Amino acid sequence: MSVTLAEAKAADAADSLRSLRARFALPDGIIYLDGNSLGPLPANVTAHQQAVVEKEWAEGLIRSWNEADWIGAPQRVGAKLAPLLGAKPHEVIVADSTSVNLFKLLVAAARRSERKTLLSEGGNFHTDLHIASGAADLLGLSLDIAPRAEVEQRIGADTNVLLLTHVHYKTAERFDMARITAKAKRAGATTIWDLSHSAGAVPLHLNEAGAELAVGCGYKYLNGGPGAPAFLYIAEHLHDELLSPLRGWMGHAQPFAFTDDYQPAAGIDRFLAGTPPILGLAALEAALDAFEGVTMERLWAKSRAMFDVFVGLMEARCPELRCVTPRGEEQRGSHISFAHENAFEICQALIAQGVIGDFRAPDVLRFGLTPLYLGFEEIWRGVDVLAGIMAEETWREPRFAVRGTVT
Ligand SMILES: Cc1ncc(COP(=O)(O)O)c(C=O)c1O
Repeated sequence: MSVTLAEAKAADAADSLRSLRARFALPDGIIYLDGNSLGPLPANVTAHQQAVVEKEWAEGLIRSWNEADWIGAPQRVGAKLAPLLGAKPHEVIVADSTSVNLFKLLVAAARRSERKTLLSEGGNFHTDLHIASGAADLLGLSLDIAPRAEVEQRIGADTNVLLLTHVHYKTAERFDMARITAKAKRAGATTIWDLSHSAGAVPLHLNEAGAELAVGCGYKYLNGGPGAPAFLYIAEHLHDELLSPLRGWMGHAQPFAFTDDYQPAAGIDRFLAGTPPILGLAALEAALDAFEGVTMERLWAKSRAMFDVFVGLMEARCPELRCVTPRGEEQRGSHISFAHENAFEICQALIAQGVIGDFRAPDVLRFGLTPLYLGFEEIWRGVDVLAGIMAEETWREPRFAVRGTVT
């Protein structure tokens, strides 16, 4: 059902989360529907960064590794993130990129068994498949890339590791984490979840779901800023068993003993590799304050309401764009995607009018539904702009076909 502008405004007026928008420094005149790709700047980050730069770095200099506890930042920020993941504080660290964390976990997990197959989904985010192929080559394993509908059937006696992205980056389809993890475990395989489109987007209960290993981005729904460090989760019972293939000094039991031999640190700390990126960690640490005092369940309830409004408006006003995101709330994440052969040009035409979504090749337009700062009126206005572009075919202007390096 399609809502009117007045109804969208009324929904904003009734929204108990509306005040959270003030926690973000969003530019005027922009409708930001791309927080699933790069979260906007949380308002408190600038002052925090400034303090870290001007006090801790400029004045504290190298003393800040101890005095400002820079050295503890990967664990401290991990512990701050843990409640959003449904994990224990010491089960999460923030370090490296998602790709690098994935490599560390894939190799560590695969070394638990003699089995020869890494299993993943065709159409998974490409870095996951590329990293998996590198890990498979290194370990002499084969990589089985199954169509989504067949992934579960392909879990077999030779499956060593199952690597899945919980919420699909393109369609927002969501796997049933608890059921699949349990099924893989019964079959003797370890599952690694990529939570890049799940963390800060949907309620996560990693411990309850029996999840053992996971990674995810810090710059999407967690709003940690461009290139923010990623996170890595290892369930407590695997802490002593797993070893990182990247034996960096930060994962050593005594990094400052400067010994030639390698001794893994206790717990998840052994999955650290090099010097932590303090400025990036500081931004993410402050950014997580945006989630203060609000549960993921409340955010998810608003996301669902925004999804319904979005779908209803699109069906009424842009029927030529085909929704590729499942309707069932258990089957999807917090973005909504539409297919159209000119999705790239349409996306550019939208951005030119201040409505920022994104495009994923070859034909998908994605819109992030981010309840922390997005309102119902913005959704109404965003779809209104899109309907105008479709009706007038302004996307056909040649300037909208020009592709930058990042699309
Ligand atoms: C599912 C998924 N995994 C990983 C990444 C990227 O990870 P990295 O932090 O290595 O750039 C993305 C980026 O969009 C993603 O969507």
